[in-house]
Amino acid sequence: MGLNVELLEQSFELVAPQSNKLVETFYQHLFEDYPEVKPLFADADMKIQQTKLLASLKLVVENLRRPEDLQPVLERLGLRHLDYGTTADHYPAVGATLLKSLAEIAGDAWNEELHDAWAEAYGAISEIMLAGTATAAV
Ligand code: HEM
Repeated sequence: MGLNVELLEQSFELVAPQSNKLVETFYQHLFEDYPEVKPLFADADMKIQQTKLLASLKLVVENLRRPEDLQPVLERLGLRHLDYGTTADHYPAVGATLLKSLAEIAGDAWNEELHDAWAEAYGAISEIMLAGTATAAV
């Protein structure tokens, strides 16, 4: 992954002190902007879900320098998402929501460069997760 790792790490540190607000904002926007995904979370404890989202964001950012370690983890995560009812169409919705929430929390510190770096990172992560779902097609 030819990602701007340094920029991603720095900007994650920027929002980390407000990480609880970030994940809360994220699900608020997700359900408001894309109400069609709400039923997928019907059985989920949203407090736990918020913690999981944060943990996975952290995991990804901390391991950006070791993409070879990240790949199998993300493939398996993608595969599990089939059981959650997630389809390929949902990934751009979650990506747009993540960017919107990050921009909101980062405030004045947010800029186009950060937007592009995160959009690229999310795109790469989704691609690997979706590649993981392809292994279930047989
Ligand atoms: C980069 C993309 C994503 C990441 C890193 C991610 C991460 C996670 C993690 C870590 C979990 C906890 C369970 C597990 O580890 O298997 C989870 C659960 C879940 N995710 Fe995602 N996810 C992503 C994209 C999506 C998308 C696009 C959707 C579709 C709306 C989605 C819907 C769900 C649902 C419904 C659950 C299960 C909730 C429950 O019933 O407990 N995720 N996700």
